[in-house]
Amino acid sequence: TAPARAPDPDAGVVNVAHRGASAYAPENTLAAFRLAQAKRADMFELDVQETKDHQLVIMHDTTLARTTNAEEVYPGRGPWKVADFTLAEIGRLDAGGWFARKYAGERVPTLGQVLAAMRDRGLGLLLEIKSPELYPGIEGRIAAELRRSPSWLRYDPRERRLVVQSFDWESVRRFHAVLPKVPTGLLGTPKAADLPKLAKYADQVNPPFAGLTEDYVDEVHDAGMDLLTWTVNDPGDMERAIDLDVDGIITNRPDVLHGVVDGS
Ligand code: G3P
Ligand code: CA
Repeated sequence: TAPARAPDPDAGVVNVAHRGASAYAPENTLAAFRLAQAKRADMFELDVQETKDHQLVIMHDTTLARTTNAEEVYPGRGPWKVADFTLAEIGRLDAGGWFARKYAGERVPTLGQVLAAMRDRGLGLLLEIKSPELYPGIEGRIAAELRRSPSWLRYDPRERRLVVQSFDWESVRRFHAVLPKVPTGLLGTPKAADLPKLAKYADQVNPPFAGLTEDYVDEVHDAGMDLLTWTVNDPGDMERAIDLDVDGIITNRPDVLHGVVDGS
C-alpha cells in the first residue's frame, strides 16, 4: 500500500481540471491541459486508452466519433472504436474543430506527449485508466510510460503530482501492484463496509457529486482515504461540496472553483 497520507485540514480543496479546462477548450487535448494551468487548476484529469498498435492515447469515449473528425476522414470504418485504429491513423485526426473553429488542428495526444508537455508546468496529473477491460495489459504499459518520465513519479503526498484512478477497481489494483508508490483512486461509490479493504491499495475514493453525503465523506476519511468529487461546474454546488468536507473537486471550470474558494 502507498505511504500513509497526512491529511492537512488547512490544505484547502484540490482544484482538478476535468479533461483539462474542458469548458473552454476541446477536452483531452494539449490546449485544454495548458488552459488548466492558465485557469489555475492544481491538477488536470485525463482519460487513457489504447490504439490498435498498443499506443497510449488520451480520449474519453471508446469511439473517436464525438471528439474528432474520424467519420469524415475514415468513412465506412464505423463505429470508429479507438481500439480499431493505429496511432498513425489517429494522428491524422482533428480533435479540436468540433469544439470551436479556433481549435481546429488540435491532435489526439499520446500519454507520452502529455507527460512531456506538462512536466514543468506545476500541475499534478489525475490519470484515469478508461475502459481497461478493452485493453488487457494497459496498466503495465501506463506504468512503463510513467517510468520513462520519472519526474511524474516523485512521491510526496503534499505535491499531489500524480494519482491513477479508474471505475474498474481491479485495474487500479493491478496498477498498484506494478507501481505501488503512485497514489491511486477508485471512481464511483464503494459500499462503506468495503472501504477498509479497498484502502489497502487505494488512496482516494472519487464519487459523483449527486447524492454525496457528509456521512459518506466521513466514512472515506475514517478509512484513511481522500475524497474528490465530480463533475462540479456550478458555483453553488462547489460550495455545497466544500461544506461536505471533500478534499478535491473535479470541474470543467477551474477558474470558477478558484472564485468560490478565494473570491478571485
Ligand atoms: O475524474 C472523474 C471523471 O472523469 C469520471 O467520469 O466519464 O468524465 O471519465 P468521466
Ligand atoms: Ca475521466
